[in-house]
Amino acid sequence: MSAFAPQLDRDVNDDGAMSIARRCMMVSRRMLMQWGGLVGAGFLIGPSKASGANFGSEKAGGVYFTAENPGRWRNKVEGHLPEVSVTMIGGEKRVIITTNHKMFGFKHYIVKHVLLDAHYGFIDEKLFDPNADEPVSEHKLPSGYSGPIYALSMCNLHDVWLASAQA
Ligand SMILES: [Fe+2]
Repeated sequence: MSAFAPQLDRDVNDDGAMSIARRCMMVSRRMLMQWGGLVGAGFLIGPSKASGANFGSEKAGGVYFTAENPGRWRNKVEGHLPEVSVTMIGGEKRVIITTNHKMFGFKHYIVKHVLLDAHYGFIDEKLFDPNADEPVSEHKLPSGYSGPIYALSMCNLHDVWLASAQA
């Protein structure tokens, strides 16, 4: 067991400092709240740009990142842009989201994937344990769903990335 492990279930160390795990959780929670607010406010993605070309927002490349607008992370596209595929499993459409990013424990990892529908409504999400998971997730679509889908992938160091596909 590493020296880090004993602190995982404690918020404060003996000297009063907040544990690394607790700080990571707080940062992740704050990022998710900001991220959720952007989606909820409806300005993350322009509704007329479902093709995935540039998602129709000046926020692309600044607030969130895409293949076409990687902004300050232009050398990070390959490891952060989620790949989205739709396949049939057992007669149901399933969405597979993959981020080609190594997991370096809580130091540097993919925090989660989120799947959104054509109106940017929440469908499903997968939180990752960086010590046990690879950043690959499988999601069910609502019965009979057909149309654009959006995938968000969040790195704890390199922010939120957006990609889309047709289901
Ligand atoms: Fe990263």
